[in-house]
Amino acid sequence: MTDKEIHITYHEYGSVEELNPEDRELAAEALKAMSGAYAPYSHFHVGAAVRMSNGQIVRGANQENAAFPSGLCAERTAMFAASARYPDKDMLGIALAGGVMGRLSSRPATPCGACRQVMAQYQAKSGKPMSVIMISADKIWKFDKVDDILPLIFDSI
Ligand code: THU
Repeated sequence: MTDKEIHITYHEYGSVEELNPEDRELAAEALKAMSGAYAPYSHFHVGAAVRMSNGQIVRGANQENAAFPSGLCAERTAMFAASARYPDKDMLGIALAGGVMGRLSSRPATPCGACRQVMAQYQAKSGKPMSVIMISADKIWKFDKVDDILPLIFDSI
């Protein structure tokens, strides 16, 4: 038996102003997207923004439904809209922000497992790293590629 380790490096910023201009723009779009949330059950409003290889940014927000599994997270809303609109373009990055009743939490909102798997597939489709930015009131986390938030990605079929 051998013990193995997985190392993950990510970047923490004190505010969106510290991000590079492209990431700052993407973060601002994710924050704006929060207003599109429809969350009558959780009251947790999440916004997401995807940067495409043609420079376009596509926004999404979480949508809930009385039949709970029929709802969808902000990240998948944004990615599916982006893929439907620009099927031949690559997703270079995604940013997300969330908080109760639209008030940013103090710890960055982190994507659920299902959204990470969807990110992984679009990253694999493009063959380029897709960065993931998570925003809170106090700090920003940036991961350079989906692998860093989904070690041992399922990509076997
Ligand atoms: N949600 C997202 O939209 N993205 C996440 O990363 C985590 C959770 C949504 C799903 C649901 O509408 C609400 O937040 C509470 O879980």
